[in-house]
Amino acid sequence: MEPVVRAMPPQSEFLLAACQAGAEGAVRERMAVGWPDVKPGAWRRGVVTFRLPAPVQDLPADLLDRLVFARTLMHSLGQVTGSDPAALAAEATARAGTTGWQRVHCWHRQFVPGSQRPTLAEPVAAALAATLAACGLPAQTDPTARPGDLVLDVVVDSPERWWVGWHRAAEPATCWPGGIHRLATGPLPVGKVSRAWLKLDEAIALFGIPLAAGERSVELGAAPGGACQRLLEAGLRVVGVDPAIVDPAVAALPGFTQWRMRARDVPVARFAGFDWLVADMNIDPRSTLAALGRVATAKGVRPAGIVATFKLPVWSRAGEVAEWLAAFAGWGFRTRARQLSSSGRELCVVATPGGVRPRPARRPRGA
Ligand SMILES: C[S@@+](CC[C@H](N)C(=O)[O-])C[C@H]1O[C@@H](n2cnc3c(N)ncnc32)[C@H](O)[C@@H]1O
Repeated sequence: MEPVVRAMPPQSEFLLAACQAGAEGAVRERMAVGWPDVKPGAWRRGVVTFRLPAPVQDLPADLLDRLVFARTLMHSLGQVTGSDPAALAAEATARAGTTGWQRVHCWHRQFVPGSQRPTLAEPVAAALAATLAACGLPAQTDPTARPGDLVLDVVVDSPERWWVGWHRAAEPATCWPGGIHRLATGPLPVGKVSRAWLKLDEAIALFGIPLAAGERSVELGAAPGGACQRLLEAGLRVVGVDPAIVDPAVAALPGFTQWRMRARDVPVARFAGFDWLVADMNIDPRSTLAALGRVATAKGVRPAGIVATFKLPVWSRAGEVAEWLAAFAGWGFRTRARQLSSSGRELCVVATPGGVRPRPARRPRGA
């Protein structure tokens, strides 16, 4: 089939959301509330499809925030199947056209943090690159897109079955192939003491968290210290709250202090003066929420931001997300929430002060 030269990418009424394997139901539930006109379609582990009421070129800018559990989105042009990668690449480019692609994103449907399954995605990427080069597109050295770039997407379902689509890169996650942070595919960088370093690194990039050197942060659930290590690298002074031992490599860093106790045993007045409140405790999400609320609503405590992870013991707890975010709103904070590509079954919430913090209810006279 001859590739088609198009000025605009082909219209499609189908949308494909990439998510962590297991999160498909959560993505569908969030879409039902976040954009009710969109109908759920087929799904497989790691991808969920939807049918739009009509084809669109531009998706709502905050759609990923509404979906929470989707890493990235593409306009789906369906699947190509066959045993010859070169023939599949030709069919994929025939379907999508060859004009205007500034990046090609190719990733495996069942991405697992720490393993990109390169043996499956790499031959596909190579076959696509060869086809596109034959059509005159320049070779791509770095797949990271810039905001505004038109991106040709290929999701490798299996070597014989690829999903083809496209999207326009906008926010950081849509600039990364499959919404996967560049370090999430490999082992933890040398010298970092836990994967929490990576999670925070991704959250900083994804949400654009404006950490500034000299600021003070406190982390609830700090051991062994990866997130504190990342905060220290950003030039912050850091207090880690945890009854467990912090890795000596982090404990010895200038600017680090540990309060070796449980979060609830720290008198709230000690949280005054911190710019950032970070939480990463391996406890029930409601307990994390209670620990954060105790600090965020304390008199004299007003962090410029909160970065918190909520561990989901089972996927069905994803249905509580709206309730958790409403609690932040009740404390006077605006939120954005996402499942990070580098994390397991958990959610990252970033909150900044917004709106008016509700005053405590007045006591009725005479009460
Ligand atoms: C996933 S680990 C945290 C990883 C850490 N953020 C890092 O950067 O390496 C969870 C930690 O939460 C701590 N934790 C659990 N309950 C806690 C509580 N009530 N107060 C403080 N820390 C708690 C545990 O001791 C454990 O070290």
